[in-house]
Amino acid sequence: MLDSVSFIYGTAWKKEETERLVNEAIKAGFKSFDTANQKKHYREDYMGNALKKHFDNGLDRNSIFLQSKFTHIQGQDHRLPYNPEDSFTEKTLSSFNSTLKNLHTDYLDSFLIHGPSYSDHVCDDDMEVWQAMEGLVQKGKVKKIGLSNINIIHLKKFYDEAEVKPSFVQNRCYANRAWDHEVHEYCLKNNITYQGFSLLTANQDVWHSDKVSNISKKYNVTPADVIYKFANQIGMLPLTGTTNITRMKSNLTNIDTFELNDEEVSLIKNFFL
Ligand SMILES: NC(=O)c1ccc[n+]([C@@H]2O[C@H](COP(=O)([O-])OP(=O)(O)OC[C@H]3O[C@@H](n4cnc5c(N)ncnc54)[C@H](OP(=O)(O)O)[C@@H]3O)[C@@H](O)[C@H]2O)c1
Repeated sequence: MLDSVSFIYGTAWKKEETERLVNEAIKAGFKSFDTANQKKHYREDYMGNALKKHFDNGLDRNSIFLQSKFTHIQGQDHRLPYNPEDSFTEKTLSSFNSTLKNLHTDYLDSFLIHGPSYSDHVCDDDMEVWQAMEGLVQKGKVKKIGLSNINIIHLKKFYDEAEVKPSFVQNRCYANRAWDHEVHEYCLKNNITYQGFSLLTANQDVWHSDKVSNISKKYNVTPADVIYKFANQIGMLPLTGTTNITRMKSNLTNIDTFELNDEEVSLIKNFFL
């Protein structure tokens, strides 16, 4: 992970606007980008178009963090990045190779399993995908691997069985579920970086509360900045996918301009307790 990374720009749901918005995010100063080889929600190829223009103009590939995901067939539409008849190892490698092509790069900083096959356990197919990803780490094609949309049962199973341990967990983070406390704590204890998404939209009651509004006024920032800073201070790496260029710049800049005190952190942490 690049030391300077405090925020990831996510590219979901942007369709044909992806190229323009990734270009704007690079200009705004974002150095980390999240995508998935899942045309239903992400356009890696358009993100790659934006990256290529910057690479051609001198942007150093090693100065940015690129993360993508392998998505099981249940999460895809008809535009598959692999042959559905192939083994899970072959599917993982096909998806990965097409990601590299889409992004105009020869390695990924991070590669995630988008989600496990079942909500209550990890099956052999998931472990086969993981082992294929471990092979990519061993070959130097991927720096770190991780998991998304998982619960504590999945995380413990992957962590216990893995030869290459997960470095990232990317989850939707709900304040009314104690900010995904169990998974987040496990990550903190095991040197796994927790990436939180939907920090605003999953937590409207917190984001739009008087309490958070008062804190934001104190530091002359927005309530969104307070939520992102809170996530950062409790040891999460937040994602934003804003399409608003002003917010893109201000969210990225403001997060470094203030520090919540312990009382404010615990007020947000324990919002629903
Ligand atoms: N692993 C997964 O399954 C998964 C699932 C969902 C998301 N993600 C990742 O996480 C990224 C971020 O997604 P997200 O769910 O956190 O939502 P988001 O894309 O950051 O934002 C969702 C909504 O919130 C608004 N918004 C964002 N920032 C705002 C701000 N500062 N002030 C006011 N409104 C704001 C956006 O409107 P504007 O565009 O107008 O700002 C948009 O309507 C995605 O792009 C994707 O990379 C991963």
